[in-house]
Amino acid sequence: MRSVVIESPDRLVIEQRPLPEPAEGEVRVKVALAGICGSDVHIWHGHNPFAKYPRVIGHEFFGTIDATGPGVDPARLGERVSVDPVVSCGHCYPCSVGRPNVCTSLQVIGVHCDGGFSDYACVPARNAWHIPDAISDRHATMVEPFTIAANITAQLKPTPDDIALIYGAGPMGLTVIQALKGVYGVKQVIVADRIAERLVMATNNGADKVVDNSHQSLEDILNKAGIRPTLIVDAACHPSILQQAINLASPAARIGIMGFSGEPCTITQQSLTSKEISLFSSRLNSNRFPDVISWMAQGKVDPEKLITHCLPLEEVQAALTLFATDQRTCCKVLLQMHN
Ligand code: NAI
Ligand code: MN
Ligand code: ZN
Repeated sequence: MRSVVIESPDRLVIEQRPLPEPAEGEVRVKVALAGICGSDVHIWHGHNPFAKYPRVIGHEFFGTIDATGPGVDPARLGERVSVDPVVSCGHCYPCSVGRPNVCTSLQVIGVHCDGGFSDYACVPARNAWHIPDAISDRHATMVEPFTIAANITAQLKPTPDDIALIYGAGPMGLTVIQALKGVYGVKQVIVADRIAERLVMATNNGADKVVDNSHQSLEDILNKAGIRPTLIVDAACHPSILQQAINLASPAARIGIMGFSGEPCTITQQSLTSKEISLFSSRLNSNRFPDVISWMAQGKVDPEKLITHCLPLEEVQAALTLFATDQRTCCKVLLQMHN
């Protein structure tokens, strides 16, 4: 089989590897499609602190089960599945309170262990979630990115009366917009980005108002319009954003952050406490695959609106480069392994 291997930072090869056999409790997935994410590019270039090399990258993938390991129901052969990349121990403190995404011995498929940019991948059977026929292969490949939005919104508990502000209209911002509008029915969703083409995508994904903050102050625009957001999501993740978000927020607002920057993010206690603002952080997803699969089955979100490209596995290097360098035309780029 072919696997996309990052041998060491900046060294990407498509390697021929023997077909892996599923171990106890595992299934082998014949991968049909996989999505490219910023973290794949970061691992390629040596910018992901969690990655070990050599590594088969890819944590957003869909396929069919073509082999089952000992202890797994053979009736699952042929099942269409999307793979949750979060592998957890099941018994540490975070696991015991339903937060396996921050398990003390967390293993992320495609980061800590080999992933889905491969013809086949062996994964724990419980990470392979059944996809109903109503959901297309392309949409099933998008379940994982939508679970990021499912996880952060589950913490923020949006209501129809919220006035939401999203920083960033990349793949993460767009999935959050779709969840706020399609799942929670939030009345007003405002989106800020610095790239005009991305703001067009934000509108197509359901944003009610977009602001280009590359040359005008978001604070001024919101102040002039009398808008005090009650719910803010930082899906742009620059360390400077949090203090601005706190300043813009309504008293009693909730703010969700999802960045991994190692740079300090300076905020004052006064700005936070005087408005009693709640701050949430969100990493990956805690058992959100069933939620997102049901959102897709009910048509509450439309993953097609994010997919801009689909290339064959052999063109992985071109696909990663396109994704990393062309934020104007690219949103989600898929890799095709099998039809
Ligand atoms: P992306 O880079 O495609 O999108 C970020 C967008 O933010 C860009 O369109 C950019 O123009 C915009 N932006 C940058 N600075 C801005 C500012 N000051 N104001 C408004 N817009 C601004 O990234 P993607 O894939 O959408 O991911 C977003 C962030 O989420 C990344 O930092 C990534 O590391 C993080 N992430 C976190 C996850 C988690 O589980 N916590 C999972 C996936 C991504
Ligand atoms: Mn991802
Ligand atoms: Zn655990």
